[in-house]
Amino acid sequence: MKKILFVCLGNICRSPLAEGLMTDKIVKSNMEDQFKIDSCGTADYHIGELPDERTCENALKNGLELKQRARQFEPADFNRFDHILVMDNANKMKVIGLASSEEHLHKVQLMRDFETESNLQGSDVPDPYYGGTEGFQNVYNILDRCTDNLLNYHLQAIEN
Ligand code: 4NP
Repeated sequence: MKKILFVCLGNICRSPLAEGLMTDKIVKSNMEDQFKIDSCGTADYHIGELPDERTCENALKNGLELKQRARQFEPADFNRFDHILVMDNANKMKVIGLASSEEHLHKVQLMRDFETESNLQGSDVPDPYYGGTEGFQNVYNILDRCTDNLLNYHLQAIEN
């Protein structure tokens, strides 16, 4: 069982979408028994809330329904999960600041390290919260690509 956690700031825009996309791909691959998927935010602003309605509308336009509630990252997540994918460098620093061992640190990666094109690796999934609606589709496209590559990475690890 691979346990994967997606992390952003508020857990209402980027990471719930990454969770939804990854879960959908796992279900469609009939691999539900091999994965546990969750998401959270480093901040406490939106605990208990549904994803941002612009995120939900954009996801629905692409055929994906999001209904999970926001929660905050906590140090125990380092033990609950094997792979922690953070949406941007600022939040990666926050997560790393809560790590208490080398083993924890090794679990943390940037979501866009799973971009196909090497010039995009290491960059931030842009925060769409204060921008226009086009930002939400841009985030969708980025996360659709990166979750494809992330799933393939884990499927290969399972096969080998
Ligand atoms: P997220 O987006 O980190 O992708 O969920 C944000 C959500 C809320 C806020 C900022 C970013 N906020 O400042 O409340």
